[in-house]
Amino acid sequence: MKHARADFPKDFLFGVATSAYQIEGHAQGGAGRTHWDTFAASPGNVVRGENGDVACDHLNRFEQDFDLVREAGFDCYRFSTSWARVLPDGRGQVNQAGLDYYDRLADALLERGIRPCVTLYHWELPSALADQGGWCNRDIADWFADYTQVIMGRIGDRMFSAAPINEPWCVSWLSHFEGHHAPGLRDIRAAARAMHHVLLAHGRAIQAMRSLGMGNLGAVFNLEWSEPADDSAEARLAADRYDAIYNRFFLGGVFNKEYPQTALEGLEPHLPKGWQNDFETIGTRVDWCGLNYYTRKLIAPADAAWPSLQEVPGPLPKTQMGWEIDPSALTRFLVRTRKDYTGTLPIYITENGMASEERVQDDDRIDYLDKHLAAVLDVLAQGVPVNGYFVWSLLDNYEWAFGYEKRFGLVDVDFETLVRTPKASFMALKSALSEGQSVSQPLAQPFGAVHEHWNLVADIGGTNTRLGVVTNGELADLRKHPTGTLENLLEALHDLRDEIGTNPQAVVAAGAGPVRDGTIQLTNANLDLSETELANATGAQRTFVINDFTAAAWSVAEVTRSDVAVLQGQVTPPAGTRLVVGPGTGLGVGALLYSEGRYHTVSGEGGHVGLYPRHRDEVDIFEAARRIAPGCFFGDSLALEAEMFLSGTGLPILYQAVELAAGQARTQARSAKDILNDARNGTDLVAEKAAQIFTTHLGALMGDLAVTLMPEGGVFLVGGVAEKNRWLFSDNFKDAFNGGGRFSDLRRSLNLYVSEQAEFGIIGANNFCKNALRQQPD
Ligand code: FCB
Repeated sequence: MKHARADFPKDFLFGVATSAYQIEGHAQGGAGRTHWDTFAASPGNVVRGENGDVACDHLNRFEQDFDLVREAGFDCYRFSTSWARVLPDGRGQVNQAGLDYYDRLADALLERGIRPCVTLYHWELPSALADQGGWCNRDIADWFADYTQVIMGRIGDRMFSAAPINEPWCVSWLSHFEGHHAPGLRDIRAAARAMHHVLLAHGRAIQAMRSLGMGNLGAVFNLEWSEPADDSAEARLAADRYDAIYNRFFLGGVFNKEYPQTALEGLEPHLPKGWQNDFETIGTRVDWCGLNYYTRKLIAPADAAWPSLQEVPGPLPKTQMGWEIDPSALTRFLVRTRKDYTGTLPIYITENGMASEERVQDDDRIDYLDKHLAAVLDVLAQGVPVNGYFVWSLLDNYEWAFGYEKRFGLVDVDFETLVRTPKASFMALKSALSEGQSVSQPLAQPFGAVHEHWNLVADIGGTNTRLGVVTNGELADLRKHPTGTLENLLEALHDLRDEIGTNPQAVVAAGAGPVRDGTIQLTNANLDLSETELANATGAQRTFVINDFTAAAWSVAEVTRSDVAVLQGQVTPPAGTRLVVGPGTGLGVGALLYSEGRYHTVSGEGGHVGLYPRHRDEVDIFEAARRIAPGCFFGDSLALEAEMFLSGTGLPILYQAVELAAGQARTQARSAKDILNDARNGTDLVAEKAAQIFTTHLGALMGDLAVTLMPEGGVFLVGGVAEKNRWLFSDNFKDAFNGGGRFSDLRRSLNLYVSEQAEFGIIGANNFCKNALRQQPD
């Protein structure tokens, strides 16, 4: 694939989508009959009369299928719950086996670190409700809200996101006006009612889920771009009517609490009485908008009853469905949706993909996905807040009226043997997603999911402490507290434990200072913290205190292309020993060493190596420094402790030394931040000189350390100064790193990076924790 995870924003989510009836095997597990079963059993509706009785038998194979989701590297899995599996008659008696199944399914996803994204209705209406008019009956909003309570009451605590209904246009217009989907009606009054009731039911379900305390709730629309077949005014009007019915009706109802006039022209006489009063419910606030996008249509006028239009074949390349491929329409839709409907609300592409006959080498699908990802990148650059992209679909499956003929899967399914075989597109996505670290975005309801297993990681600074909640190896929540006294710190840890309600498995606390016998002397915070105190405050069995250099070294354990700025060498940091310099403003040095299949850290005080003039004109500056800090020089040489210049506290001393050497009076110590600001703005020559010495000596020293250790996994500058002052680390810095006499070429061959991980302390503590638990499981 041309595109990779690293091309997208850091917390962009990639997912894959499925739906219940299309994969589960509906005849099993006590599910009730649905209108799709009878629609399929009526001749002429579905190719070969096929139905969802067995489908992919996902019901019995979901663990294996989720292994594939994880293997591909997806962050999210979008699935649907079947109304008739939960409530076989749509109301009343619950099918316990159905609830238990979805419960296990939710856990199976979380166990694999995959975010569960649920849809409550993907088209299989219980037959008992169809008997009562289904979507034409206003009571369906109540029935649906009740079903929502039942199923989300059981699994809602573990969902990352939830949407009530998949594709309201298909549920209503396609199924009640065009008759292509169950219940197969062709009646404008039924269609108008279904269009309104589906939105009403959506609003009621959102309210029901909010009352259960769920968050991250959205709506999923399918959009199809309509293009006039020619330049005539009639074609333009026809295309506009198509757009109003297909797209604007549903988006308008949910986001603007109104229906487009163009659609009302034909529909209003058939809408249920008092429809205008339902917009408060229909427009209930949602947290995100999901768009399913596949194709565009060319529309011409037709000499028929309203809406008086017809689709005509277009010239673009087509998929196995005969759908034209037009990624540019996705771009236009995303831009328009933001402008007219959603504003700053996050948008997700909740479905995109293609049917292809290629069962193994599906290059056409790879190309399709690439082109649509490019469309997403395009709108991201325009500032449209797209937060994620889901491929339709994981498996070849029951493609509704087309039966098992049209294959949308990344994974081939042999419908005789039910054997799954990943296609080329699966492998391509797998490698595209593994480049760039998987995201760590707060889960919607972390505390529902973390009751059983979680770890607590802390980054303790002089002023502030960050506390991270980790589930499934990923950061689920991050808190910031003033560090305060030891008592304050332990209280904050204890409170977090109480809030979650269970003890963490392990706690890792990182901070600046030496570690001895399970106690860290936090020099900046001026307190001592022991592993026993951590255990008492949190109830954790396993506790660790680690030095901040150790944490910095561990922060690059899982580093990928999107986490670093490359100064020289390979774009993706290769595996192997890594040298880390930082963190903060100091010259701490850490190394993450790989040997015998394991990582180890060494953390040292690079600040205690010697620094000496590397140029003749620096001699005066080092001599001046000796007048300021004589105790920091090595014997009577001109070598001083590197930290005296190369740290946040050292830079002000360096500044004064430059002043003295230039024959100026020594001024009051200035902060490192002010000095670097003046140097950058070119408003203070002394500051410029100090910054230049700071940069070149840091570069030279890093080169010295690197050429000694030869870290094949790269040299990383980590920490706040580097992150905030990237301008310091360009050519001067690189030249100093590479300038090493006969070893210049060797230095130039090393991979040199600036880490861009904002929370490297927390990330490092988490990586340390994962490694410690892996090495010594309970
Ligand atoms: C979408 C449906 C999905 C599948 C794809 C191809 O409209 O949501 O179930 O049929 O189309």
